[in-house]
Amino acid sequence: MLTLKKNTAVLIAEAVKGGFGEGLLSAEEIIGMLEYPPDTSMGDIALPCFRLSKTLRRSPVQIAQMLAEAIRCEEFSSVTAINGYLNFKINGTPFSARVADEVLSLGDKYGSPMNGEGKTVVLDYSSPNVAKPFHIGHLGTTVIGHSLKLLHEFAGYKCVGINYLGDWGTQFGKLIVAYKLWGDKATIEQGGVDELVKLYVRINNAIKDEEESNPDKKSPLADASRAEFKKLEEFNEENIALWRWFVDVSLEEYQRTYKLLGIEFDSYKGESFYTDKMPAQVQKLRDMGLLEIDDGASIVNLEKWNMPVCLILKRDGSTLYPTRDIAAAVYRKGEYNFDKAIYVTAAQQSLHFAQWFKVVELMGYDWYDKLVHVPYGTVSVNGAKLATRTGNVVLLKDLFAEAIERVKEIAREKHPDEAECQAIAEKVGVGAIVFHYLSNNRMRDINFVMEDALSFDGNTGPYAQYTYARTCSILEKAGDSGKALTDADLSELEVELAKTISVFPERVNAAITDYEPSVITRYILDLCAAFNRFYHECSIVNCEDEKLRESRIALTRATNQVLRTALHLICMQSPEKI
Ligand code: ARG
Repeated sequence: MLTLKKNTAVLIAEAVKGGFGEGLLSAEEIIGMLEYPPDTSMGDIALPCFRLSKTLRRSPVQIAQMLAEAIRCEEFSSVTAINGYLNFKINGTPFSARVADEVLSLGDKYGSPMNGEGKTVVLDYSSPNVAKPFHIGHLGTTVIGHSLKLLHEFAGYKCVGINYLGDWGTQFGKLIVAYKLWGDKATIEQGGVDELVKLYVRINNAIKDEEESNPDKKSPLADASRAEFKKLEEFNEENIALWRWFVDVSLEEYQRTYKLLGIEFDSYKGESFYTDKMPAQVQKLRDMGLLEIDDGASIVNLEKWNMPVCLILKRDGSTLYPTRDIAAAVYRKGEYNFDKAIYVTAAQQSLHFAQWFKVVELMGYDWYDKLVHVPYGTVSVNGAKLATRTGNVVLLKDLFAEAIERVKEIAREKHPDEAECQAIAEKVGVGAIVFHYLSNNRMRDINFVMEDALSFDGNTGPYAQYTYARTCSILEKAGDSGKALTDADLSELEVELAKTISVFPERVNAAITDYEPSVITRYILDLCAAFNRFYHECSIVNCEDEKLRESRIALTRATNQVLRTALHLICMQSPEKI
C-alpha cells in the first residue's frame, strides 16, 4: 500500500539515484526523515535536507534544489526548495482520488501494514485474580491488551489471546476456610463474585484481628487457611470441588464484562494449569547452576544486571509468581511457537517482568528476546486512588453499568423501545469508557471522570460514534452506489479530509510498533474533526454539481470505512444509528 510518506519517499529515492548515484539512500530511510509541516502553506509534506549533506556531499540548499528540479508527479502540484527543505504541495484532486480509490478497493483491509502474515503473537492480558474484585485497575490490561490483539490481527498475525487467570494461590485456602465458617451456597450462587469477595475481605480482617490481639502475632485462622491450601495442592477432593466452583462463579461474571466489550479469549489457562510444569524449569535452573540459596530460599542472582534477586522457591519450597511465569512462557513457546509474546500489566509489575525475562535468557532459551512487557499507568476515579485492601474499589461491571444507565436516560427519547434503547446504550456507554481510557498514552496516570467520558460534545467516544452514524445516514440518503472520485475541483477542506484518511496506515503502524492503542484513538479524533469541518461547509447529498456530489459522497464513504476500522481496532462498536 502506498501511503503518502511512502509514495513521496519512493519519488525522492529515485531522484537521489538519478542525481547522486546508486545505493546512497533508500526509500525506507527517507520515510523516517519526512515531516508533516505544522503550517501547510509551504507544503503538505517536507524533507529537511540537512542530514543528507554528509551522504550526498552537497549543501542542504543545493540538495533541495537539485531534487526539486528532478521530481515531477501528478499528485503534487508543486515541489519546491526553500532553505534546505524540499516541500511538496499536494495536487488535491488526483491525490484525493487515489486515496479514495485505495480505501474503496481495500475495504476493511485499508490501513493494514500487512506484515504479520505467517507469524504468531501470543497476548497475555486481563488475567484477573479469582475471588478478588475485577476492578478499574484491570481496565488497562483488558482494553489495551485486546486492542493490541485486534491491531496485530489487522496486520495479519495469527493471534492467541490468553487470560492467565489468577486461579491458584494461598487466597483459596483462606476462601475455603471462610466459606466453611460463614458461607452459604445459595448466597454465592445469587451474588457471585461479590459474595466471594465479601468472604475474602472478612477472613482477611479476622486474621488481622487475631494477629493484633495475640501477643505472638499468631492467627489460628491463618494456620487453618494454610492447611486448607495444602490440602488443595494435594488434590483433596472436597477442596478441589470448592476451588473449581469459586473459579466458575468468578469466570461467569468476568465473561459478562468481556461480552460487553466484545472480547473473547482463545485460552483461559490460568496459573493453576502450570503447577506441574514448574518442577522441570526449577530443575533446569538448578542443573545450570543458576540457583543460589539465600536465607533458605532459592533465587537467581541478578546483581550484574542491576536488579534485585529473582525468587524461584520460598523457604518452604513453594513456588512463586516468577516461577510460574517462566514455566508458562516455556509451555506457550512449545504450544504456539510464537514470534512475539506480549504481556500487558500495570507498570508496578515492570521489575517482575524484567527479572524473569532475564532469567529466561540466562536459561539459554533463545526466544527470550521475543518476550515483550507492555506496562501502563495507574487509574484513579474522580481523584480518588484505588485501594483494594480497604475495599475502596470501583468494579468494572459497576463502571459499565453506570455508563449504560446514563446513556439510556438520554437515548430513551429517541429509542422508546426498551430492547433497542438498551442495545444502543451498551454500545455507546461501554464505548465511551473505552475511548476515554484509551485517549491517553498508556504510561500516563489518569483520573477517570464519568461526565467527561460521556459528553457528546467533547473529544469522546459518543462524539466519534455519532460522527460515524452521521456518515452512515449521509450515505443512505445519497443512495450511495460506490462510485469513484471524479475530476471535479476540490476545496481545501476536502483535500484535508483525504490527507487525513491517507495517514491512517502510518498511524496503525505506529500503534503496533509502540504498543500504543491511543495513537488510534487520537487518529479517530483527527478524522472526525476533518470530516465534520468538511460536512459543515460542503453540502453533500444536495450538492448541485453532479461530479462534485459524487466526489463528496466518495470521500464520505472512505471516511465511513476508515472510522469503522479504527473504532474496531480500539474495541469499539460502530452503531449506524444513535
Ligand atoms: N493476575 C495478575 C494480577 O492481577 C496479572 C497476571 C499478568 N500476567 C502474567 N503472565 N504475569 O496482578
